[in-house]
Amino acid sequence: MTTPTTGTPYGTLPSASPLPQRKPVSLPRLAEMRARGEKITMLTSYDATFAAVADAAGVECILVGDSLGMVCQGLSSTSGVTLETMVYHTESVVRGLLRVQGTAWVVGDLPFGSYHESKEQAMRSAAQLLHAGAHMVKLEGGGWTAETVRFLVERGIPVCAHLGLTPQTVHSLGGYRVQGREDASARVLRQQAKELEDAGAAMLVLEMVPAGLSTEITESLKTCHTIGIGAGNGTAGQVLVMHDMLGINLGKNPKFVRNFMEGQTSVRDAMAAYVKAVKDGSFPDNEKHAW
Ligand code: KIV
Repeated sequence: MTTPTTGTPYGTLPSASPLPQRKPVSLPRLAEMRARGEKITMLTSYDATFAAVADAAGVECILVGDSLGMVCQGLSSTSGVTLETMVYHTESVVRGLLRVQGTAWVVGDLPFGSYHESKEQAMRSAAQLLHAGAHMVKLEGGGWTAETVRFLVERGIPVCAHLGLTPQTVHSLGGYRVQGREDASARVLRQQAKELEDAGAAMLVLEMVPAGLSTEITESLKTCHTIGIGAGNGTAGQVLVMHDMLGINLGKNPKFVRNFMEGQTSVRDAMAAYVKAVKDGSFPDNEKHAW
């Protein structure tokens, strides 16, 4: 039986029913993918329609990233995004997925200031994202965050950590620049990644880290799956900001991004091309997209 589809300006979406049953993406399924060497795909989405299109294109994980501050709200950095805004966008994404019986794993970003005061504050903020429908929360930084990750994981909340370029603290990092180039900073990143895995983080975004270092960190972690962005092709999966990979961001695309709209006629096809390129290892190309 063929699946009925509905045309939209964004491509073709599966209609509400009947759909073939697909298994929801879960942590065990992501672990199985990693074990058999299949790359995990993640893309940001901030609303119902794009989340449904990404899901239909085969993206396994949708990140409701605080990058929405820049791409949706027009802010100059992510540090102005509030928890209330993250809850609103997470609810929108989850409603979109429910509408099309989507199966994607939803990661909600804890915004700046929502987990920094105490573990209890982090718990309250994470609970709001889970109430909004997220399956996992993401927080940035290493060192002090390991204790917070452990606290959340012990209370049943899956956590994705984020090291390397951490946009919420871009001002103290001195700009959007590659992290872990020098021996000392690479050592710190290796150590922090290990601490976060020991604390129970199930995923770790590595952003703007040299390809060799991110590969090394990936191989050293057993239960925590690395998701790279500007970190070369040696990670367990890849993530991109949707507006970047569609070539519609307001600035210049960073070196590590490929415009997947090129040669495609719909957003869904562009997203499917991203999924295919990550899975077959042709994106990212370390010659072109890594440091
Ligand atoms: O907020 C976001 O979109 C992110 C990605 C850049 C990983 O954190």
